[in-house]
Amino acid sequence: MSQTNKPRGKFVTFEGIDGAGKSSHIAGAAALVRGRGLNVVATREPGGTALGEKLRELLLHEAMHLETEALLMFAARREHLERVIEPALQRGEWVICDRFSDATYAYQSGGRGLDSGKFEQLEQWVHGHLQPDLTLLFDLPSAVASRRIAAQARETDRFEQERAEFHERVRLAYLERAALAPRRIQVIDADQTPEIIKILVQEALIRHCL
Ligand code: TYD
Repeated sequence: MSQTNKPRGKFVTFEGIDGAGKSSHIAGAAALVRGRGLNVVATREPGGTALGEKLRELLLHEAMHLETEALLMFAARREHLERVIEPALQRGEWVICDRFSDATYAYQSGGRGLDSGKFEQLEQWVHGHLQPDLTLLFDLPSAVASRRIAAQARETDRFEQERAEFHERVRLAYLERAALAPRRIQVIDADQTPEIIKILVQEALIRHCL
C-alpha cells in the first residue's frame, strides 16, 4: 500500500530533571511540526499505553526495590515501542515523547546509583535498533527546579519527593550523556522565560529535524 513508500517519521524526546518545565513545551513543539503538514503523536514515559499508564501509577507512587523500578521502566518502554512509537514512525508520523531511555540512565543510574552497564544491555534488548533523532535536554539548577515544584502546590510523586542531592545527581548524569552524544542531545538552558525557551525549542527542531 502507499504506506510502504512513506519516509519514516522523526522521533524526538524531551528530557530534564523534575521541575525543568519540559512538559509545557511539548504542545508547542507538536504544533510547530503539525504546522508543516506532518502528523504528530505526543506521548510520555513511563506510560503512553494502557498497560504503561498502570505501570506509571505504580512507579510514581509505590515503594519498590530499585532494580524493580528500573526493570518496570524498560517493561513499560517495550510496550510503548511496540504499540505506539514504532507503528507511528512507520506510518511516517512524528513521535514526540516526554522522556525515554536517557531518563533511566539519569534517574536510575545517576540518581539511584544503579550500574549503567545493566541499562546498556536492557537498552540493546528493548530498542537496540532505535535511538531518538533528537533529544532536547532542559537543563537548570536543581534548586531552581525544586522551587518551581514547591510553587505548584500539588501532590508530588516519589521522584519529586527525593532530596536535592538526588536531583543534582540526575542533572549531572543527563549532562554527561549530552556530552557523550552532542549531536543527538541538545541542551536547552531552562532557567529562562517560557517565551525564550519556546524559541530555543523551535530553533532546535528546525535545525535538526524539519
Ligand atoms: P515526568 O515527566 O516528570 O511526569 P510529570 O511531568 O507528570 O511529573 O515523569 C515522571 C517521573 O518518572 C519523573 O520524576 C522521572 C521518572 N522516570 C524515571 O525515573 N526513569 C525513567 O526511565 C522515566 C521514563 C521516568
